Amino acid sequence: MTQDLDSIVEAARAAFAQAANPAQLEDAKAQFTGKSGRITELMKGLAQLSVEDKKTRGAAINQAKQAIEAALGARRQQLADAELARQLQAEALDVTLPGRVREPGGLHPVSLTLERIERIFASMGFDVADGPEVESDWHSFTSLNNPPNHPARSMQDTFYVDLQGDDGIHYNLRPHTSPMQVRYAHQHVKRYADAVKAGQPMPEIRVIAPGRTYRVDSDATHSPMFHQCEGLWLGQNVSFKDLKVVFTDFCRTFFESDDLKLRFRPSFFPFTEPSAEIDIQFQSGPLAGRWLEVAGSGQVHPTVVRNMGLDPETTIGFAFGMGPDRLTMLRYGVNDLRLFFDGDIRFLRQFR
Ligand code: DAH
Repeated sequence: MTQDLDSIVEAARAAFAQAANPAQLEDAKAQFTGKSGRITELMKGLAQLSVEDKKTRGAAINQAKQAIEAALGARRQQLADAELARQLQAEALDVTLPGRVREPGGLHPVSLTLERIERIFASMGFDVADGPEVESDWHSFTSLNNPPNHPARSMQDTFYVDLQGDDGIHYNLRPHTSPMQVRYAHQHVKRYADAVKAGQPMPEIRVIAPGRTYRVDSDATHSPMFHQCEGLWLGQNVSFKDLKVVFTDFCRTFFESDDLKLRFRPSFFPFTEPSAEIDIQFQSGPLAGRWLEVAGSGQVHPTVVRNMGLDPETTIGFAFGMGPDRLTMLRYGVNDLRLFFDGDIRFLRQFR
């Protein structure tokens, strides 16, 4: 190879070594073997040479071209290897890092209690109903024989909502689930209106209505948001005896204990007459011997039956309202209600 060809090959090698990436390398290649690269230009010059010179000069140029292409191929491979090494480095996994565990979730203890209550009452033929938490004044109080300005209204520290419809209705966050008695009865009366017109008797009403309730109240056993579950059983001949049987059965099933005593203690509620608080007493375990209040109850007041759109002369029955939060505390031996609503996972995962 002649001197000039040697220096071209050297220049090519140096240019390739300087190229830091494939694009730069292709630019460098163009300067030598591209359309108007230095080698290509030399090839074009062959035309002017004699046949003899063409042969030797041509062979020398070809040799130089092959040397350049070899250098190009080697640099291409080098750049590709470097790129691969960079990628592997960037995507490296530290297999010694501890994994991120995804623990299975679980139902909240109060939800477990609500499900349990629903299952037990469903097995006794009770429907399960749901209703609004923002409730009208009429449903929360007036319909339940608790007229405006009656002192019994202040039995509950109600959250009044600053919201009054065009119809003049005042709203509150329902302080109890009792409005569901009237709401459900209304739906029921509507559903069977045609049958009753045709002279058939109205089917019994048997329903529970669990849900959230609200009062201005907060300490170890009271929370501004808490749960209640209302119960209602109305028919032609439903008596206090039926209330005793149903509620005793419920408590024994709920607490899985047959030697559980119940006491119906006379009380007052505007929507029932007579009324009773229901207390239970465990015969064994840490709470044995103490009477624990779990529900209010009573025979539905004739005024309330009338407000349901039913005739108190022919429709009679009972209602009760219990506290699922309290039942959960008793069942699991929890002594502070606030634990249920703090959202502390260490507490909650114990019920999973
Ligand atoms: N609503 C009452 C309360 O929040 C509980 C209650 C008492 C419900 C007697 C009833 C009932 O249905 O008959 O304190």
